[in-house]
Amino acid sequence: MIFILTFSVKRLIIENELEQSDRSAPKPGESARSTAVTEEKDQAAFYQKRKEESSMEKKNIDWGNIGFGYIQTDYRYVSYFKNGAWDNGQITTDANIVLNECAGVLQYAQTIFEGLKAYTTEDGHIVTFRPDLNAERLEQSAQRLEMPVFPRDRFIDAVNQVVAANEAFVPPYGSGATLYIRPYMFGSNPVIGVKPAEEYQFRILTTPVGPYFKGGAKPITIRVSDFDRAAPHGTGHIKAGLNYAMSLHAIVSAHKEGYDENMYLDPATRTKVEETGGANFLFVTKDGKVVTPKSSSILPSITRRSLVYVAKEYLGLEVEEREVLLSEVSDMAECGLCGTAAVISPVGKIVDHGKEICLPSGMTEMGPVTKKLYETLTGIQMGRIEAPEGWIHVIK
Ligand code: PLP
Ligand code: COI
Repeated sequence: MIFILTFSVKRLIIENELEQSDRSAPKPGESARSTAVTEEKDQAAFYQKRKEESSMEKKNIDWGNIGFGYIQTDYRYVSYFKNGAWDNGQITTDANIVLNECAGVLQYAQTIFEGLKAYTTEDGHIVTFRPDLNAERLEQSAQRLEMPVFPRDRFIDAVNQVVAANEAFVPPYGSGATLYIRPYMFGSNPVIGVKPAEEYQFRILTTPVGPYFKGGAKPITIRVSDFDRAAPHGTGHIKAGLNYAMSLHAIVSAHKEGYDENMYLDPATRTKVEETGGANFLFVTKDGKVVTPKSSSILPSITRRSLVYVAKEYLGLEVEEREVLLSEVSDMAECGLCGTAAVISPVGKIVDHGKEICLPSGMTEMGPVTKKLYETLTGIQMGRIEAPEGWIHVIK
């Protein structure tokens, strides 16, 4: 297996903590409530606790039975942007954020985020999957919402630090759970005229998660939505909180009507398949080709891009990345939703205004091609299958 061993994260955390402990001035934007680890009065006790923690057992969590929810972990990362520059960043223990009532994020939704996971591999390492692509996408999101860019190398460093600090929350190999990593950035200073904020926080929280859809690999039922999640030339291609706010009414009403998710169509013509609220689509044709929608208003999923490579290079499949008409879907053999949270969740049925499209793969199991894609991708992530160079970043 080709591992990219970027550096010793533990050492960096300790260095970071020592460096932080030399600075007594509060960070820009830091509230009185903030309890940066470096402010712990009893340093000796703190280091003793961390020493015990780093060799300690995992937290007492029923890993096999957790869903996709928030479980608060011990540490998070924060860096503040003020006067045109990011500070050095640090690991903190306080899960709460105190903001001015007029903060840009609260008034004009100036917030973007990312999602990636830490996995425990078969041989006991803790790794992340292609974090460089999350760093790159966060940069694109920041540029679209007029926010400052958080440097890519610092993004990867921060992910490493926060995962290493929360090692006890990284689910064990084979448990079916992973540590979800949520980097996010928001405008924090008061803004009342419509304009970008001048101060920002870049943060990373982590939470152990199980499957995104209840039932894990069991096929789900989705409906074609009458609502849009994006606009032509809008922000559908970036990971902005506003896109998800757009989708909340649609998901609540889909759930009320018994559907697991929405299939969104292209907002301009409503004839082409776009994506769901949190994942891209993959289809398999009856002659075994993998087809995935291409659109300028969907999120460029890292999982989908990886699966396209896996399909071609590992499984020798033909892949088409192109516009997919809704009218073609009834001819498909398999359908799946792909994303960090969704991994690959098989779709068994799509309901288009009362018309049922039942995928031949059925409602009990993943289709055979989807299953091969799933097994190869998760095999790479969990260290059972050799990864392409640069895909796996070892943290520990
Ligand atoms: N599409 C949307 C709207 C998403 O929120 C996500 C999740 O990040 C994806 C697709 C999948 O992207 P990725 O594979 O990079 O997680
Ligand atoms: C992810 O897959 O990381 C996402 O951000 C999707 C979200 C709907 C949970």
